[in-house]
Amino acid sequence: MLRHRVVAAMREFFDAEGFVDVETPVLTRSTPEGARDFLVPSSQQQGSFYALPQSPQLFKQLLMVAGFERYYQIARCFRDEATRADRQAEFTQLDVEMSFVTVDDVIEVNERLLAHVFDRVGGPRVPAPMERMGFEEAMDRFGTDRPDLRFGIELVELGEELAQTEFKVFRSVLESGGAIRGLNAGRRELPRSELDGLISRAQELGAKGLVWAFREGDGWRSPTAKFLTESELAGLNRRLGAEQGDLLLLVADQRPVANAVLGQLRLELGERFGLIDEDEDRLVWIVDWPMMEWNEDERRWDAMHHPFTAPAGEFDPENPGAARAQAYDVVWNGQELGGGSIRINRADVQEQVFAALGIDAETARARFGFLLEALRYGAPPHGGIAYGVDRIVQRLCGADSIRDVIAFPKTASGFDLLTGAPAPVDELQLRELGIAIHKHKLAGH
Ligand code: AMO
Ligand code: AMP
Repeated sequence: MLRHRVVAAMREFFDAEGFVDVETPVLTRSTPEGARDFLVPSSQQQGSFYALPQSPQLFKQLLMVAGFERYYQIARCFRDEATRADRQAEFTQLDVEMSFVTVDDVIEVNERLLAHVFDRVGGPRVPAPMERMGFEEAMDRFGTDRPDLRFGIELVELGEELAQTEFKVFRSVLESGGAIRGLNAGRRELPRSELDGLISRAQELGAKGLVWAFREGDGWRSPTAKFLTESELAGLNRRLGAEQGDLLLLVADQRPVANAVLGQLRLELGERFGLIDEDEDRLVWIVDWPMMEWNEDERRWDAMHHPFTAPAGEFDPENPGAARAQAYDVVWNGQELGGGSIRINRADVQEQVFAALGIDAETARARFGFLLEALRYGAPPHGGIAYGVDRIVQRLCGADSIRDVIAFPKTASGFDLLTGAPAPVDELQLRELGIAIHKHKLAGH
């Protein structure tokens, strides 16, 4: 019932604002949002496959080029990825796109949208304007791009205090270009077993280890205290704002690892120590993103959002890592509700960005030729956003899982237990599609 009211309020808002609801195809080609595609064969085109859309991204951009200035759609999206508490393979987006807009315009409309919807269904009050935080600040202070701002325990940079350290764990990390980061969990008393539990948890999250300490006098009570000098300990206490008895946790690693581990420990400590006021709500826009992030495994640049996101200012193909994106995510109490960007509206810039992402000209033409052609017709500046409708409803009713707000949901491994999908099909059906199943491969899987 709540879900119905949320969707009704969304439609009411966009209709009043002059947005047009356009349905886009479900049988289509791959849309690059970064997940694996679901493929659909067809008896009329044996050997070729449709892909189910991961989002209506490219279609909504084409609608802008075609002159629809304001579009929205409640669209079903499909991503062949493992289900999680806030993730299903089949989910629903509120998808929005507008022409002749800047980041501020999109944010302004969306703040009014959220205020309208939440007002209709008894959600949190939406401040106007909402808080904004830069991506770097979010990573520095909270170790994540979707910070839960309802409590403190912020991450702190400790490299400076330890620049001269003799402690080999810290020194080797600093020498290899890593970072030492820490947090102050406040005055706590934890038995040794729980401290060991924290170390295991940090390792589970990807850290090589975890230093724990309690401030005692001017120094530390900690197995690591003996490796650090008095002035290092005093400096660390100062930097961490440590009072007597405060529990301090430190991770030394490459910066992304240290951030991920401490960011997650922060959330778990916040919960465990009851620091989160369940009656409080914190909505924040995360803005000023990098355009690309380095993928060390594949040794190439990946788009932080998707390849159609516009750079802030000129794009320098020689230095993709430095490019900033005109992108924004909206985060509610630590959960990403939606995200979007201003789009590239020039074919030459789009081609440069494809090239920087390692998509060569031929592949770009084959996969996105229709977009590149459309951009050549004189595409208006445009941008938009998409929300996870399921997530919004989940949050509004405080459900632990997205499944609780989806009628006929799927299990973690993607089964629909009710109808028994996915299921094997008749030999005849396969023959009509020109498909043969390798049974031995399935068995080994
Ligand atoms: P993005 O991939 O960030 O952006 O998706 C937008 C929002 O959709 C929700 N979402 C999901 N919800 C449930 N299950 C999933 N598997 C799932 N994946 C994503 C999230 C997310 O914030 N085309 C762009 C948007 C744009 O640029 O306008 C896009 O799809 O709440
Ligand atoms: P070791 O020299 O490996 O026995 O580690 C000494 C102490 O440092 C132990 O308490 C480890 O848990 C901790 N430690 C090891 N590696 C790291 C790291 N990368 N970051 C934080 N602490 C670590």
